[in-house]
Amino acid sequence: MTNVAIVGTQWGDEGKGKVVDLLSENADLIVRFQGGNNAGHTLVVDGQSYALHSVPSGILRPGKISVVASGVVVDPEELILEIKALTQRGVRITPENLKISEKAHMILPYHRLLDALREGAKGGLKIGTTGRGIGPAYEDKAARTGLRLVDLRNPAALAGKIKLALREKNCLFEHLYGQKPLNADDLTKRAVSWSAFLTPFLTDTYLTIQDAQGRNRNILFEGAQGVQLDVDHGTYPYVTSSNPTAGAVAVGTGLAPKDLQNVMGLVKAYTSRVGEGPFLTELSDDIGQKIRDTGLEYGTTTGRPRRCGWLDTVPVRAAVKLCGIDRVAVMKLDVLRGLDELKIGTKYLLDGREIDWVPADLDILARCRPVYKTVPGFAEDIRGAKKLEDLPRAARVYLDLLEELLGVPAALISVGPDREATIVLHQYF
Ligand code: IMP
Repeated sequence: MTNVAIVGTQWGDEGKGKVVDLLSENADLIVRFQGGNNAGHTLVVDGQSYALHSVPSGILRPGKISVVASGVVVDPEELILEIKALTQRGVRITPENLKISEKAHMILPYHRLLDALREGAKGGLKIGTTGRGIGPAYEDKAARTGLRLVDLRNPAALAGKIKLALREKNCLFEHLYGQKPLNADDLTKRAVSWSAFLTPFLTDTYLTIQDAQGRNRNILFEGAQGVQLDVDHGTYPYVTSSNPTAGAVAVGTGLAPKDLQNVMGLVKAYTSRVGEGPFLTELSDDIGQKIRDTGLEYGTTTGRPRRCGWLDTVPVRAAVKLCGIDRVAVMKLDVLRGLDELKIGTKYLLDGREIDWVPADLDILARCRPVYKTVPGFAEDIRGAKKLEDLPRAARVYLDLLEELLGVPAALISVGPDREATIVLHQYF
């Protein structure tokens, strides 16, 4: 009995949905610990595709408990829609198999509006957020002016809290952005209408997790986004407002840090990034377009085309250290099929000197050039591979190089979108 955190080592979209779904077969609890509905985890089960945003991917496995812990920011309106849509497709969701932290902060309509207005006002300096109100919601949490889901239990107090929050927000909407103010009574009515649906799911999930840990249950912590989008360790300010690093498991769930036993880092066999910000190995040519088309690299949450490029191991090595990653899952290896040669970024060249870190100063980072190692590509369809020996030699050479550069072994290799298209090398549970 153990626990494992799944984290993205790049800029998100590494394929966490698929891996969490696979590992959840033998997990008892599946826990989201940070981020919000900016995440979009795509799972293909029995040929059916599901895009999950706030609900943990474990929900598709009957008999498991899915937890949205306190480190997550929750948009109640969107969450209700997501639960209803899944229910309509036959997924059973009850307060027994979905537990939502009452301490989790709410994303309210004014957060979404502020996110959009700020991005619009930034022009060329925009971050390219998902527009879900994530940043403004985390800001209010840190400023101690946020509303938590527990507030839905007390409609009388809710009205006063919304009024107070809108005093400040409306000042910005009217005087900075020239918008109409939001009406506190309307918003209160909306919030009260969420209450009956959501309150049965609310609980102190810290207790759920501690209880499961105490009983030696298998717990899977499902990260969202990726380490390079971490507000402390990523390419600031082109980051999200939470910590997708493994350290956030403890903070965001209430598990003691020393009790986290395994960390698996997801590495896409290439790199993609959605939104603005530095991307040294980006390919703005036909190869980049081929990867985008073959890998269906269009945002699950926003539909935006993702920027694509070669695998850059400099930031991924940092992620391995930052998160204590013991094994990696190599995702979407099949997408690289048909390229004559494959490149992997090994170091950066800064003013004629090789460096092995991502400079915090984005102007210095802009002066860095990736150093590549080039290996032959493979032409074979690898989607049916079940073991390493089924892979063509060139694909194995690529994988060996990747493991060597990252300094950790692979736990699994994903060779296609289906659950079955996976080479499993290590079982955590
Ligand atoms: P926000 O999280 O919506 O504030 O967006 C901040 C940055 O993180 C933007 O570049 C987004 O495109 C990126 N981002 C947020 N969530 C995800 C995700 O789940 N996958 C990939 N990129 C994301």
